[in-house]
This record gives sequence, C-alpha cells and structure tokens, in this order.
Amino acid sequence: MRIVFLGPPGSGKGTQCGLLVSHLKVPHISTGEMLRKSIRSREAVGLKVEGDLKAGRLAADAIVIDLVEQRLEEPDCNPGFLLDGYPRTTYQALALETCLMSLKRPLDGVLELCINSEVLVERLAARAKIENRADDNPDVIRTRLQQYQRATFPLVQFYSKRKQHYSVDGLGTVEEVFERIKDALEAIRTKNKR
Ligand code: AP5
Repeated sequence: MRIVFLGPPGSGKGTQCGLLVSHLKVPHISTGEMLRKSIRSREAVGLKVEGDLKAGRLAADAIVIDLVEQRLEEPDCNPGFLLDGYPRTTYQALALETCLMSLKRPLDGVLELCINSEVLVERLAARAKIENRADDNPDVIRTRLQQYQRATFPLVQFYSKRKQHYSVDGLGTVEEVFERIKDALEAIRTKNKR
C-alpha cells in the first residue's frame, strides 16, 4: 500500500509507521529521519538544513522533494511505502502527485492522526527527557506546531478534495491507535477495490 501519514509533531506518525512496517511489509520513509541522518553525517544537504531543523522551521521544498523522489525510485518501494512527514506543503503534495503519476503508482490514502495540542506538548516534553532531539524544547515545539497549522494542515483539504483523506483518532495507547489505523487501512482497501 502507498500511504501518507499527516499529523502534527508528536501525533505518533513515527511510532505507528514503525509498527506498520512489519504489518504491511513496506518501507517507512521519514523525511525528518532522512534529514537528521544527513546532518549527523555532515553531508551537504545536512549542512543546508541544520539551522531550519534546530529552529523548527521547514526545510526548503526543493531539498526534501529531491530526497523523497530519489528514495521512491528504490526497488524496496515497489510494493508500497509509508510516507511520514512528507508532504508538508501544498507544493510538496503537488510534486508527490506528479512523481507518483509518472511512476504509475498513485497513493492509496492519506491518514491524518488527530490529537489536541496539550497532549502533543506533553508527549514531546516527555521525549525531550529521554532522547536528545535538538527540536524538542518548548520554544521550538511551539514553532513546529505553528508551522504545521500554517503549511501542512491545508493538506487535509487538499486530500479531502481528492477523496483520499481519512482521519484517525490519535489519542489513547499506542496499541489502541494502531488498531484504528488498521481499520482505516481496511476501509481504504475496500474503497479502492470498488
Ligand atoms: P519530523 O521528524 O517529521 O518531526 P515531526 O513531524 O515534528 O514529528 P515527530 O517525530 O516529533 O512526531 P511524530 O508524529 O512522528 O510522533 P512520534 O511517533 O515520534 O520532522 C522534523 C523536522 O524536519 C521538521 O520540523 C522540519 O524542520 C524537517 N522536515 C521533515 N520533513 C520535512 C518536509 N517534508 N519538508 C520540510 N521540512 C521537513 O511520537 C512522539 C512521542 O510520543 C514519542 O516519544 C512517542 O514514544 C510518544 N507517543 C507516540 N504515540 C503515543 C501514544 N499513543 N501514547 C503516548 N505516547 C505516544
């Protein structure tokens, strides 16, 4: 299956995609992870985006589009993929649509993890105590949430118009959310068979 995960920072996109990899046997493509890896290895892309990630701003569309398009051409994406954190702007969504059209592999669906901002802030603050992500501090979390509302939330309407959008309640335990996602995937399969 070819699925996009939408959702604000801390909504559980990465956690749920991690679980779905073995369930669906398709790769998990996280643009955040790709960018962080390239920062850690001091690659040219990493040096360009480092300041943006630290500040909670989006990296430039052209950089991310290029990374994802190269990744989608790799053979492990033939059976499908889970896109986590991409697209994040309307420009990226249009680029993805064009890319998948040329590969003759349209999206099956877009799952939006819905959750309120107090819970997001709590989850990210809890993660900040365990992991060392440069963007998990209160000021940067606020910027990331604003960026989501401004640039990414409009994609809900973008994909609703294309009848590809499904919302999933992201509150509850990881297992509860995972069950809801599996139900949504089943609904997508059924709809796409018709
Ligand atoms: P990215 O890495 O994508 O970060 P994000 O979207 O802010 O998402 P997070 O990883 O913080 O949250 P998540 O929704 O994956 O939740 P998670 O499962 O981790 O992007 C980072 C940066 O890279 C961006 O700010 C931007 O600068 C840049 N970037 C990336 N993509 C880009 C693009 N396309 N264009 C431009 N720039 C881009 O869970 C969060 C925490 O909650 C974890 O500790 C987890 O254990 C916990 N948790 C998860 N589920 C539950 C649950 N059900 N109950 C309790 N705790 C839970």
